[in-house]
Amino acid sequence: MRALSLPARGSATLRRFSTRAGTGSGTDTSVPGAMLTAASLGARYGASRVLWNVDLHVQPGEIVTLLGANGAGKTTFLHTVMGLVQMTSGHIYYGERDIARQTPEARVTGGIALCPEGRRIFARMTVEENLRLGAGLKHQHTYDENAAYVFELFPALEGLQDKMAGLLSGGEQQMLAVGRALMSKPKLLLLDEPSLGLAPKIVRLIFELIQRLREQGVTILLVEQNVRMALLIADRGYVINTGRIELSGTADELRENTSVEEAYLGLAVQT
Ligand SMILES: Nc1ncnc2c1ncn2[C@@H]1O[C@H](COP(=O)(O)OP(=O)(O)OP(=O)(O)O)[C@@H](O)[C@H]1O
Ligand SMILES: [Mg+2]
Repeated sequence: MRALSLPARGSATLRRFSTRAGTGSGTDTSVPGAMLTAASLGARYGASRVLWNVDLHVQPGEIVTLLGANGAGKTTFLHTVMGLVQMTSGHIYYGERDIARQTPEARVTGGIALCPEGRRIFARMTVEENLRLGAGLKHQHTYDENAAYVFELFPALEGLQDKMAGLLSGGEQQMLAVGRALMSKPKLLLLDEPSLGLAPKIVRLIFELIQRLREQGVTILLVEQNVRMALLIADRGYVINTGRIELSGTADELRENTSVEEAYLGLAVQT
């Protein structure tokens, strides 16, 4: 194990973010053309502040990865985008629309979906019942059509529709969790650690599926602790450390910076 060290200072390509005060001005701070923009976003749980001035954007068609150690604030960020955690400062735009006041349901209807950490499928319900839950009210009447879209991506799920979700393998459960999120036909899919706890072969399968999803036109924000795999499929990435974005760049730039894993993720680089 090598000693931890900070990333090289003055890197020509990697962009460092300084914390700055929230704009609070009501002016449009969305990034031009972006599908999602978080601008100076802050969030807290009660008295404990978790996100500080987070600036992050996702362009249509991109896979963007958000990397960070346990407790860095990744899930909190995704939940804030969904409206499940209330933001305390800054802005969230979906396209050019400020969605800060929208309910989570309205955000799903608008085209954002979350595949949550730990899958959160309903073990005592069948695969079909789980998928129906993901469809949302707007899409209940189009179950067959949307399920066909999901089964095209995950053929293995089709034959499992009547099976109790709790009896599925870990990989099948993850496919179901992603499939459930896709039942609302999202334009922007937020994936929270989809590879967690899966065997390496299944992890590769899940990452291939994420790439296929992008080819189908779904834009993806991927939270991962599997840094190497995430940077292999992502276009760009952000590193979050104790609630602040500390580094961002293209996946190539972040991959070349070996210190990303060491300094920000608390991982040893295997030599
Ligand atoms: N519901 C909650 N109430 C209070 N504090 C919370 C709550 N959820 C998370 N936290 C705290 O907020 C911080 C960020 O947590 P978060 O779950 O966003 O991290 P994470 O980056 O997703 O970590 P992990 O990789 O372990 O999933 C942590 O300090 C955590 O303890
Ligand atoms: Mg998390």
